[in-house]
Amino acid sequence: MDLYQTIQKRRSIRSYTGDPIPREDLEKIIDAGRLAPSGNNRQPWDFIVVTNRDMIQKLSIAAAWSAQASAMIAVVMDTTTKYWCEDGSAAVENILLAATALGYGTCWLEGNALPHENAIKAWLKIPADLKLLTLIPIGVPVEWPETRNKKPLDQVLHWETY
Ligand SMILES: Cc1cc2nc3c(=O)[nH]c(=O)nc-3n(C[C@H](O)[C@H](O)[C@H](O)COP(=O)(O)O)c2cc1C
Repeated sequence: MDLYQTIQKRRSIRSYTGDPIPREDLEKIIDAGRLAPSGNNRQPWDFIVVTNRDMIQKLSIAAAWSAQASAMIAVVMDTTTKYWCEDGSAAVENILLAATALGYGTCWLEGNALPHENAIKAWLKIPADLKLLTLIPIGVPVEWPETRNKKPLDQVLHWETY
């Protein structure tokens, strides 16, 4: 699968078979996050990969369906850096695309996770001065949804001026 096909294929996947993910695939996926661009090359991130079922169950406080994930990635940012939000977002997208290329389903689980940030930080022993950007459940998808709800290209593409 080339990059454009991977971009086309990626979806937010919210149901998983529960099949395990080999450790080398998880390392490859995190490596894609590590290689993302960052402002001034600060790389202000850490990635926690959770495979322990009891902890995944706890983390599913963010969204019940995520309990079926085979792993959960917590993306942790140093918010004293100027571009932490952009940097973290670039890393997350790399992770989502790398996982898709390897055949796994993921979801950027931020809105539902952040109300539980303090509890999640305590469970994962994340230092108080760092921020949880998002959780990313990952698993073998039950299915790839066919439909997409995206604005058409001609609505968002402007040539030369707005
Ligand atoms: C910043 C951000 C926060 C998100 N938070 C959640 C969330 O809390 N729960 C969830 O189910 N999906 C979440 N999503 C996934 C979006 O719902 C999803 O990307 C969007 O509906 C488009 O669908 P697609 O990813 O399949 O293209 C989030 C996405 C982004 C970029």
